[in-house]
Formats: sequence, C-alpha cells, structure tokens
Amino acid sequence: MSTPKRIVLSSDHAAIDMRLAIAEHIAAQGHTVVDIGPVTPESTHYPKHGEAAARKVAGGEADLGIILCGTGQGIMMAANKVPGIRCGVCSETFSARMIRQHNNANMLSIGARVVGDSLAMDIVDAFLSAEFEGGRHAMRVDMIMDIETL
Ligand code: RB5
Repeated sequence: MSTPKRIVLSSDHAAIDMRLAIAEHIAAQGHTVVDIGPVTPESTHYPKHGEAAARKVAGGEADLGIILCGTGQGIMMAANKVPGIRCGVCSETFSARMIRQHNNANMLSIGARVVGDSLAMDIVDAFLSAEFEGGRHAMRVDMIMDIETL
C-alpha cells in the first residue's frame, strides 16, 4: 500500500476504459484522483491530453500523473515536453518501480493496447508504492533536468 497522493489521470480515446479502471483502483487505496478525461469515446489527440496532465504535475496540482494511450508512447512523448516532467512508459512492474526509485519519475505512461487490465493495475501499484532513493541517483536526475536549461 502506498502513501496517499494526489494523482492526475488522463488518456486518449484508446484507453478510456483502462483509465477509469485505474481511477477506481487507486481511489480505493485512498489516493485523491484528479481525472481530467476525456469522458466520451470519440477519437481525440493524445498530445493535448498528455500535456494537460503534465501541466497539473509540473504546476503542483498533482503529486504524480498516470497517462495512457494505445501504446503509451505518444502521450509519454508529449508529457516529457513539459518542463519538470519525467515520464516513463512501463509494460511490466520492475520498470515501474525503478523509474520512481532511480529516476524520480513523476509520471507513468501505460499502453492500453499493450497490457491487460490486471497487469496495468500491478504496474500502477509498483509505481505508486515505490519512492525515490536519492543518493547517487539524485545527481543523475539533476543532470536530466539540467538539459532543460541548455
Ligand atoms: C491512437 O490510435 C494511437 O495512435 C494512440 O493511442 C497512441 O498509441 C499513440 O502513441
């Protein structure tokens, strides 16, 4: 079980059902869920949804973000363009844990056409229950963030 956090959720049309399942799953764990949609299933554009969630995290309105599209890749690319965001795509739990512990990721991306619902929940749990280890990893994360100012 993870410490309660404010978590923003977003997706494109390809991942609405999985996003809603994740929202229910993490709300039941005591997290505060900020689900910014979309609600209806029409085809939409993943960059704007990735950016919108990333701005909530970067602006401090959410502690962490979970975003989804068909592969998880496009929405992750959009989120990572927002200054302050470190988002990784995960299709298994080891990486989901490590991007928190070593990379201090503040966003997780999942491909709803890549993993099933049960694995997605395990990935989310691994991400949310892990904490950044700091130490030697802090300097490396600082090096990532310094690239934003070059
Ligand atoms: C939408 O068809 C699809 O391209 C999108 O969900 C995502 O996989 C993009 O990276």
